[in-house]
Amino acid sequence: MREQIESLRREAVGELAGATTLQEAETVKFKYLGRKGRIADLFKLVPTAGALDRPRIGQLLNELRAELEAQVEARIAALKPVKPRVSVDVTLPGRKPFEGTYHPLTLVLREIVDIFRSMGFRVAEGPEIELVRYNFDMLNTPPWHPSRDETDTIYLPNGFVVRTETSPVQIRVMESQKPPVRIISPGRVYRRDRPDATHSPMFHQVEGLYVDEGVTMADLKGTLLAFYRRLFGQHTQIRLRPHFFPFTEPSAEVDVTCFFCEGCGCRICKQAGWLEMGGSGMVDPNVLAGVGYDIEKYTGYAFGLGIDRIAMLRFGLDNIRLLVDNDLRFLRQFEVV
Ligand code: DAH
Repeated sequence: MREQIESLRREAVGELAGATTLQEAETVKFKYLGRKGRIADLFKLVPTAGALDRPRIGQLLNELRAELEAQVEARIAALKPVKPRVSVDVTLPGRKPFEGTYHPLTLVLREIVDIFRSMGFRVAEGPEIELVRYNFDMLNTPPWHPSRDETDTIYLPNGFVVRTETSPVQIRVMESQKPPVRIISPGRVYRRDRPDATHSPMFHQVEGLYVDEGVTMADLKGTLLAFYRRLFGQHTQIRLRPHFFPFTEPSAEVDVTCFFCEGCGCRICKQAGWLEMGGSGMVDPNVLAGVGYDIEKYTGYAFGLGIDRIAMLRFGLDNIRLLVDNDLRFLRQFEVV
């Protein structure tokens, strides 16, 4: 028995020394120390030893097992791949915390306001819940005009509407001050429009109004041209297309040359070469007289332009919903400026 134990030790130590991979070391462990391994086999023989020898043999086997276990574990530890030590590279730039960004509409609005401010316009504000009187009546809108229809306009009790345009701010400003008046008024407007890629029941306009002595349509055209050139680039042209609005006479829709194809025709402008931007015209004398201005002395121009459209073109957006959905994955793409 003692010899068997001794030769098992030599064998095991030899094999362990020859194990050069983790797997080989595990195999040695299993072969000698496993539940049905070589040492277990020898333990089974203990009862066959002479009664006097038995305790000593048991002790030897226990010692052998402990010794081999230690050696095997040491070997396994030595063969295990070394884990890289976690270290801090203090030269790396720090991680910037998320700071928040400006909404694309805010970015465009700031640009618009900056441009008009530099041309002498002041920013005026008006309420989104507006009197029918300001939203329609004082803007010379006849009772039969389709814009008054309940299918287009959201009516509220007591003579109020949710404003359908920023034009009523014109009336509020003119009621509160004498000419010269030179304001823009950006804000939200609401219509019962069926939402699609380019329509939303809430959208944004910027109103403009200039009333003074001797204001002409040429002033309107020059101002709009200067504005759109600053916004879309110096090659931009504009076109005033005859139209009808109750509060202006004459009235015109404002188109600008498509800044993608520079007027040649492309997908963005639907091959027209022009993009529709809003309405404009010379303030109807009925409107000026309604707020008590002297129509013999003063003339004025006005315009109302879509802001969402500009943001969509500026940032290449194919759906107006992106501007109202508040999806952070979208909004985080806009840099703080
Ligand atoms: N309020 C008009 C609309 O929402 C836009 C407009 C047209 C505004 C002509 C004006 C203007 O000030 O002169 O369709």
